[in-house]
Amino acid sequence: MKQQSPTRRDGSVKHAPHLGGIIIRFDSVSSTNDVAKKLAEQGTPEGTIVLAATQKHGRGRGNKTWFSPVGGLWFSLVLRPEVTMSTISLLPLAAGVAVATTIRRLFRIRAMLKWPNDVTINERKVAGVLAETTTEGSNCHAIMGFGINVNNSVGSMTVELASEATSILDELKSNVNVDWLMREILNDFSAIYAKILACDSSHVIAEWKRLSDMLKMSIIVQEEKISYRAEVVDLDSDGALVIQAQDGTIRRLLSGDVSVREIRSRT
Ligand code: BTN
Repeated sequence: MKQQSPTRRDGSVKHAPHLGGIIIRFDSVSSTNDVAKKLAEQGTPEGTIVLAATQKHGRGRGNKTWFSPVGGLWFSLVLRPEVTMSTISLLPLAAGVAVATTIRRLFRIRAMLKWPNDVTINERKVAGVLAETTTEGSNCHAIMGFGINVNNSVGSMTVELASEATSILDELKSNVNVDWLMREILNDFSAIYAKILACDSSHVIAEWKRLSDMLKMSIIVQEEKISYRAEVVDLDSDGALVIQAQDGTIRRLLSGDVSVREIRSRT
């Protein structure tokens, strides 16, 4: 079937934006997200990429350090989305969907999603996304930081990290061209992003659900210093995870506030 271009509310057609028109490369950088943020503030166009072979202070979600040795794919993408805040909240999910889709398509590996945007293979994390949005008046930019373990074997990580991580090299037993992989991820992301810009949130939500086995799963929610058990009920249209706590209350988790850990899947 011929793929249709996403349509805006007014009926006009929004084409998938070209991403990666400008690529700024570094051998080593503090954090590609920090460099991309500065460039965005200076007016760099949407689609600009900051790519580094290694990061000295790579950052992960929840103020964690992101180990970024040579061999991985570490890049940040500058976006200037003209959509509502609830739609912007879909961008991190969209990035995870794009990475999982690309890995499945190129390598025939069953990559899965863990809320909000961790990409896993056999329950080990292969990629994560750090999305940072700044809004000043009507001006908004989002920095999407992609971290993908590609040609860096988990053997180079600490025992603690290695026990929960994997890389494309560890799965495929062969090296992959990281520039090619980045282009493929950008293509997949661009198609999903176009739908978000056209106010079609249903596509990314449906794709996320298709690529995740978290729905109906028992989880442990870590909220600041409190942790509690809950069951995943749904993914809301703005990307919030809907859960039912053990006392029966239904809650909506917003990414950034919490982390979740799976316990077991319910049959
Ligand atoms: C996570 O915690 O899962 C998100 C990790 C995101 C890491 C990437 S690597 C490129 C970009 N620059 C950073 O400092 N972080 C992101």
